[in-house]
Amino acid sequence: MEIIIVGAGGHGKVVLDVLRAAGQYKPVGFVDADTSLAGTTVGDLPVVGPVNTLPRLRQQRVKRAIIAIGDNRTRVRYAVLLREQGFELVNAIHPAASISPSAILGVNIVVAAQAAICTEARIADSVIVNTGAIVDHECVIAEGVHVAPKVCLAGRVRVGACAFVGIGANVIQCMSVGEYATIGAGAVVIQDVPAYSTAVGVPARIIKTGGPDQKD
Ligand SMILES: CC(C)(COP(=O)(O)OP(=O)(O)OC[C@H]1O[C@@H](n2cnc3c(N)ncnc32)[C@H](O)[C@@H]1OP(=O)(O)O)[C@@H](O)C(=O)NCCC(=O)NCCS
Repeated sequence: MEIIIVGAGGHGKVVLDVLRAAGQYKPVGFVDADTSLAGTTVGDLPVVGPVNTLPRLRQQRVKRAIIAIGDNRTRVRYAVLLREQGFELVNAIHPAASISPSAILGVNIVVAAQAAICTEARIADSVIVNTGAIVDHECVIAEGVHVAPKVCLAGRVRVGACAFVGIGANVIQCMSVGEYATIGAGAVVIQDVPAYSTAVGVPARIIKTGGPDQKD
Protein backbone atom coordinates (compact mmCIF):
# COMPACT_ATOMS: atom_id res chain seq x y z
CA MET A 1 0.00 0.00 0.00
CA GLU A 2 1.70 3.14 -1.23
CA ILE A 3 1.99 6.16 1.03
CA ILE A 4 3.25 9.73 0.65
CA ILE A 5 4.99 11.49 3.54
CA VAL A 6 4.22 15.18 4.00
CA GLY A 7 7.32 16.86 5.42
CA ALA A 8 10.86 15.96 4.35
CA GLY A 9 12.72 17.42 7.36
CA GLY A 10 14.20 15.65 10.38
CA HIS A 11 10.86 14.34 11.58
CA GLY A 12 10.06 13.18 8.04
CA LYS A 13 13.20 11.04 8.06
CA VAL A 14 12.18 9.50 11.40
CA VAL A 15 8.71 8.74 10.06
CA LEU A 16 10.23 7.12 6.95
CA ASP A 17 12.35 4.89 9.19
CA VAL A 18 9.33 3.96 11.29
CA LEU A 19 7.23 3.14 8.20
CA ARG A 20 10.02 1.02 6.72
CA ALA A 21 10.52 -0.84 10.02
CA ALA A 22 6.79 -1.48 10.31
CA GLY A 23 6.54 -2.71 6.73
CA GLN A 24 2.77 -2.24 6.37
CA TYR A 25 2.98 0.63 3.87
CA LYS A 26 5.33 1.38 1.01
CA PRO A 27 6.60 4.99 1.19
CA VAL A 28 6.90 6.34 -2.37
CA GLY A 29 8.02 9.93 -1.79
CA PHE A 30 7.81 13.16 0.15
CA VAL A 31 5.88 16.38 -0.32
CA ASP A 32 7.38 19.49 1.27
CA ALA A 33 6.45 23.18 1.26
CA ASP A 34 10.14 24.06 0.74
CA THR A 35 10.26 24.29 -3.06
CA SER A 36 14.09 24.13 -3.02
CA LEU A 37 13.75 20.46 -1.99
CA ALA A 38 11.73 19.52 -5.09
CA GLY A 39 13.67 17.06 -7.23
CA THR A 40 16.04 16.06 -4.41
CA THR A 41 15.93 12.78 -2.55
CA VAL A 42 15.57 12.09 1.16
CA GLY A 43 16.29 8.55 2.38
CA ASP A 44 16.38 7.38 -1.27
CA LEU A 45 12.90 8.73 -1.92
CA PRO A 46 12.06 11.66 -4.19
CA VAL A 47 10.73 14.94 -2.86
CA VAL A 48 8.05 15.39 -5.49
CA GLY A 49 7.31 19.03 -4.74
CA PRO A 50 5.10 21.26 -2.60
CA VAL A 51 1.55 20.47 -1.56
CA ASN A 52 0.07 21.55 -4.88
CA THR A 53 1.49 18.28 -6.28
CA LEU A 54 -0.92 16.33 -4.07
CA PRO A 55 -3.84 16.23 -6.57
CA ARG A 56 -1.48 14.69 -9.16
CA LEU A 57 -0.44 12.05 -6.64
CA ARG A 58 -4.09 11.27 -5.93
CA GLN A 59 -4.63 10.82 -9.69
CA GLN A 60 -1.67 8.43 -9.68
CA ARG A 61 -3.67 6.45 -7.15
CA VAL A 62 -1.58 7.24 -4.08
CA LYS A 63 -4.38 7.16 -1.54
CA ARG A 64 -2.59 7.24 1.78
CA ALA A 65 -0.54 9.86 3.55
CA ILE A 66 1.01 10.74 6.87
CA ILE A 67 1.96 14.24 8.02
CA ALA A 68 5.54 14.28 9.28
CA ILE A 69 5.78 17.90 10.36
CA GLY A 70 7.13 18.59 13.84
CA ASP A 71 5.24 21.85 14.42
CA ASN A 72 1.99 20.86 16.10
CA ARG A 73 -0.32 23.49 14.62
CA THR A 74 1.04 23.01 11.12
CA ARG A 75 0.69 19.25 11.38
CA VAL A 76 -2.97 19.57 12.37
CA ARG A 77 -3.62 22.09 9.57
CA TYR A 78 -2.09 19.79 6.99
CA ALA A 79 -4.16 16.88 8.27
CA VAL A 80 -7.32 18.86 7.44
CA LEU A 81 -5.95 19.78 3.99
CA LEU A 82 -4.99 16.21 3.11
CA ARG A 83 -8.36 14.88 4.20
CA GLU A 84 -10.09 17.50 2.03
CA GLN A 85 -8.04 16.22 -0.89
CA GLY A 86 -9.28 12.69 -0.31
CA PHE A 87 -6.22 11.14 1.31
CA GLU A 88 -6.59 8.51 3.99
CA LEU A 89 -4.32 9.43 6.91
CA VAL A 90 -2.57 6.47 8.50
CA ASN A 91 -0.37 5.79 11.51
CA ALA A 92 3.35 5.02 11.70
CA ILE A 93 3.90 2.68 14.65
CA HIS A 94 7.40 1.34 15.17
CA PRO A 95 7.44 -2.44 15.71
CA ALA A 96 9.63 -1.85 18.78
CA ALA A 97 6.97 0.34 20.40
CA SER A 98 4.60 -1.19 22.92
CA ILE A 99 0.90 -0.43 22.52
CA SER A 100 -1.65 -1.86 24.93
CA PRO A 101 -4.53 -3.65 23.18
CA SER A 102 -6.85 -1.50 25.30
CA ALA A 103 -5.33 1.80 24.13
CA ILE A 104 -7.39 3.80 21.63
CA LEU A 105 -5.54 5.47 18.77
CA GLY A 106 -6.73 7.99 16.19
CA VAL A 107 -5.07 8.53 12.82
CA ASN A 108 -2.00 10.36 11.56
CA ILE A 109 -0.17 9.26 14.70
CA VAL A 110 3.54 8.52 14.98
CA VAL A 111 4.77 6.20 17.71
CA ALA A 112 8.56 5.90 17.57
CA ALA A 113 10.84 3.08 18.71
CA GLN A 114 10.75 2.09 22.40
CA ALA A 115 7.72 4.26 23.14
CA ALA A 116 5.04 2.71 25.36
CA ILE A 117 1.34 3.46 25.28
CA CYS A 118 -0.24 1.74 28.23
CA THR A 119 -3.60 0.43 29.33
CA GLU A 120 -6.65 2.42 28.20
CA ALA A 121 -4.62 5.42 27.10
CA ARG A 122 -6.40 7.51 24.46
CA ILE A 123 -4.33 9.12 21.73
CA ALA A 124 -6.13 11.51 19.39
CA ASP A 125 -5.30 12.30 15.75
CA SER A 126 -1.95 13.79 14.68
CA VAL A 127 -0.14 13.02 17.93
CA ILE A 128 3.60 12.21 18.06
CA VAL A 129 4.76 9.87 20.81
CA ASN A 130 8.48 10.10 20.26
CA THR A 131 11.35 7.70 20.94
CA GLY A 132 11.26 6.06 24.34
CA ALA A 133 8.33 8.11 25.67
CA ILE A 134 5.91 6.53 28.13
CA VAL A 135 2.21 7.35 28.12
CA ASP A 136 0.90 5.46 31.12
CA HIS A 137 -2.53 4.05 31.89
CA GLU A 138 -5.65 6.08 31.10
CA CYS A 139 -3.80 9.14 29.86
CA VAL A 140 -5.84 11.28 27.46
CA ILE A 141 -3.75 12.94 24.77
CA ALA A 142 -5.58 15.43 22.56
CA GLU A 143 -5.13 16.18 18.86
CA GLY A 144 -1.77 17.47 17.64
CA VAL A 145 0.22 16.90 20.85
CA HIS A 146 3.94 16.12 20.65
CA VAL A 147 5.29 13.95 23.46
CA ALA A 148 9.05 14.28 22.97
CA PRO A 149 11.66 11.53 23.46
CA LYS A 150 11.96 10.01 26.94
CA VAL A 151 8.98 11.89 28.36
CA CYS A 152 7.13 10.03 31.10
CA LEU A 153 3.44 10.78 31.58
CA ALA A 154 2.13 8.99 34.66
CA GLY A 155 -1.36 7.49 34.88
CA ARG A 156 -4.42 9.61 34.01
CA VAL A 157 -2.49 12.62 32.80
CA ARG A 158 -4.44 14.78 30.32
CA VAL A 159 -2.65 16.77 27.65
CA GLY A 160 -4.62 19.37 25.69
CA ALA A 161 -4.62 19.97 21.95
CA CYS A 162 -1.30 20.91 20.32
CA ALA A 163 0.61 20.99 23.61
CA PHE A 164 4.33 20.16 23.50
CA VAL A 165 5.95 18.08 26.25
CA GLY A 166 9.72 18.59 25.93
CA ILE A 167 12.39 15.95 25.94
CA GLY A 168 12.79 13.99 29.17
CA ALA A 169 9.98 15.76 31.04
CA ASN A 170 8.00 13.90 33.70
CA VAL A 171 4.38 14.58 34.61
CA ILE A 172 2.98 13.05 37.80
CA GLN A 173 -0.32 11.22 37.83
CA CYS A 174 -3.65 12.93 37.16
CA MET A 175 -2.14 16.30 36.13
CA SER A 176 -3.54 18.34 33.24
CA VAL A 177 -1.39 20.10 30.69
CA GLY A 178 -3.55 22.69 28.93
CA GLU A 179 -3.95 23.09 25.19
CA TYR A 180 -1.06 24.78 23.38
CA ALA A 181 1.04 24.63 26.55
CA THR A 182 4.80 23.93 26.44
CA ILE A 183 6.64 21.84 29.00
CA GLY A 184 10.39 22.46 28.97
CA ALA A 185 13.01 19.77 28.55
CA GLY A 186 13.59 17.84 31.78
CA ALA A 187 10.74 19.48 33.71
CA VAL A 188 8.91 17.68 36.50
CA VAL A 189 5.28 18.72 36.44
CA ILE A 190 3.57 18.36 39.84
CA GLN A 191 0.73 20.86 39.28
CA ASP A 192 -1.69 21.49 36.43
CA VAL A 193 -0.24 23.64 33.65
CA PRO A 194 -2.66 26.20 32.16
CA ALA A 195 -3.39 26.39 28.45
CA TYR A 196 -0.99 28.49 26.33
CA SER A 197 1.62 28.68 29.10
CA THR A 198 5.24 27.47 29.32
CA ALA A 199 6.46 25.56 32.38
CA VAL A 200 10.09 24.61 33.06
CA GLY A 201 12.26 23.20 35.81
CA VAL A 202 12.08 20.83 38.76
CA PRO A 203 9.47 21.25 40.06
CA ALA A 204 8.02 22.95 36.99
CA ARG A 205 7.16 26.64 37.30
CA ILE A 206 5.29 28.80 34.82
CA ILE A 207 7.59 31.20 32.98
CA LYS A 208 5.19 32.38 30.28
CA THR A 209 1.46 32.71 29.96
CA GLY A 210 -0.53 33.44 26.87
CA GLY A 211 -3.97 33.30 25.37
CA PRO A 212 -5.92 32.02 22.41
CA ASP A 213 -4.57 34.91 20.31
CA GLN A 214 -1.24 33.04 20.34
CA LYS A 215 -2.85 30.20 18.45
CA ASP A 216 -1.47 31.11 15.03
C1 LIG B 1 10.96 25.52 27.45
C2 LIG B 1 11.53 26.06 26.17
C3 LIG B 1 10.54 25.82 25.03
C4 LIG B 1 11.69 27.57 26.42
O1 LIG B 1 12.16 28.20 25.30
P1 LIG B 1 12.04 29.82 25.25
O2 LIG B 1 10.61 30.22 25.31
O3 LIG B 1 12.83 30.25 24.07
O4 LIG B 1 12.67 30.29 26.63
P2 LIG B 1 14.10 30.92 26.92
O5 LIG B 1 15.18 30.11 26.26
O6 LIG B 1 14.00 32.38 26.62
O7 LIG B 1 14.27 30.71 28.49
C5 LIG B 1 13.53 31.44 29.42
C6 LIG B 1 14.03 31.08 30.80
O8 LIG B 1 13.68 29.72 31.10
C7 LIG B 1 14.87 28.93 31.34
N1 LIG B 1 14.64 27.63 30.69
C8 LIG B 1 14.35 27.41 29.39
N2 LIG B 1 14.19 26.11 29.17
C9 LIG B 1 14.38 25.49 30.34
C10 LIG B 1 14.35 24.13 30.73
N3 LIG B 1 14.04 23.17 29.86
N4 LIG B 1 14.57 23.85 32.04
C11 LIG B 1 14.86 24.83 32.93
N5 LIG B 1 14.91 26.13 32.62
C12 LIG B 1 14.68 26.46 31.33
C13 LIG B 1 16.01 29.71 30.70
O9 LIG B 1 17.22 29.40 31.33
C14 LIG B 1 15.56 31.13 30.95
O10 LIG B 1 15.82 31.43 32.31
P3 LIG B 1 16.25 32.95 32.74
O11 LIG B 1 15.07 33.83 32.37
O12 LIG B 1 16.47 32.82 34.20
O13 LIG B 1 17.46 33.26 31.94
C15 LIG B 1 12.88 25.39 25.76
O14 LIG B 1 13.95 25.86 26.53
C16 LIG B 1 12.82 23.87 25.91
O15 LIG B 1 13.07 23.29 26.97
N6 LIG B 1 12.47 23.22 24.80
C17 LIG B 1 12.34 21.80 24.72
C18 LIG B 1 13.06 21.30 23.47
C19 LIG B 1 12.83 19.84 23.23
O16 LIG B 1 12.33 19.10 24.06
N7 LIG B 1 13.18 19.38 22.05
C20 LIG B 1 12.94 18.01 21.65
C21 LIG B 1 12.35 17.98 20.29
S1 LIG B 1 12.03 16.34 19.76
